[in-house]
Amino acid sequence: TAVILALGIVFGAPAFAQIDCKPGEVVIKFSHVVPPSGHPKGDFARMLAERVNTELNGKACMQVFPFSQLYDDEKVMEALILGDVQLAAPSLSKLEVYTNKYRLFDLPFLFEDMDAVQRFTASEKGQELLGVMSDFGVVGLGYLFDGLKHFSADKPLLVPSDGAGLKFRVQNSDVAVAMIEAMGASAQKLAFKEVYGALQLGVVDGQENSWSNIFTSRFFEVQDGTTETNHQLLAYVVFTPQEWLESLEPDVRELFLTIFRETLVKANGQAAKTSEVNRQRIVDAGYTVRELTPKQRQQWVDVMRPVWGDFEDEIGKDLIDAAEAANV
Ligand code: LMR
Repeated sequence: TAVILALGIVFGAPAFAQIDCKPGEVVIKFSHVVPPSGHPKGDFARMLAERVNTELNGKACMQVFPFSQLYDDEKVMEALILGDVQLAAPSLSKLEVYTNKYRLFDLPFLFEDMDAVQRFTASEKGQELLGVMSDFGVVGLGYLFDGLKHFSADKPLLVPSDGAGLKFRVQNSDVAVAMIEAMGASAQKLAFKEVYGALQLGVVDGQENSWSNIFTSRFFEVQDGTTETNHQLLAYVVFTPQEWLESLEPDVRELFLTIFRETLVKANGQAAKTSEVNRQRIVDAGYTVRELTPKQRQQWVDVMRPVWGDFEDEIGKDLIDAAEAANV
């Protein structure tokens, strides 16, 4: 694969390298919404591209488009289904237009920690869920983890009633809307690329996200503080179009999938550390991170846990029980 062509400034974001593909190479485009490094998804995409561009040089070439530069998450699945991109890793919260099954992962306080998430996603039921987009001609190649999410707002939040009357940005997820409304707050679905501006201008008062998103997209700068609620999961599935995968020469496909699996294991192995580092960077920059006492945490659980009932039928009780059982 050819030399690095350009180091550009994109939307005021830090410079990143784009690869120029050679004629005859299979082009693999990966479109995502976060920065190209310092974030579990950006790091995964970058590490995968580095290996593909070295080990499949002359046969395949991978280009990564970060920062919603090519598509945002609302559009990327359409692009993937049409075959305009070959890889995408939207948050599981953004797939409700296609399936209700992934709503499982949005249930507040379902997983106690990321170890439980790893256990469940590795189980038979978790692996089965990778296949639920097959009706759309799309294959789930594996789970990519970010971390649990936390609330921030333009005022201190220690208990859910502190958020009453505020407006919070959420992803495209009715579970998240129900959860926010249970706090007596209102929810606004917004694309990721719009969140910083919406917080800065006061279009919304708060948001909820992983440490890696709160730090790398600088949400902490335009909030009073962040409260370590660990209330919900942020994870992705990496999808590829089935037809495209099948169209690859067998040796290319085999090596690509091997590199993919190895890189995914590596990225997932370092996600927790990345999360911790990004949390610490917020603290080191002098911004407030509030920890909850067990009593305060219990109030969040008591307020949000009842929303499970609204989604139980469509997700399936057996699936919810299996996920909960991973908390051992
Ligand atoms: C969000 O929209 O908050 C996240 O899904 C962004 C991401 O991809 O981590």
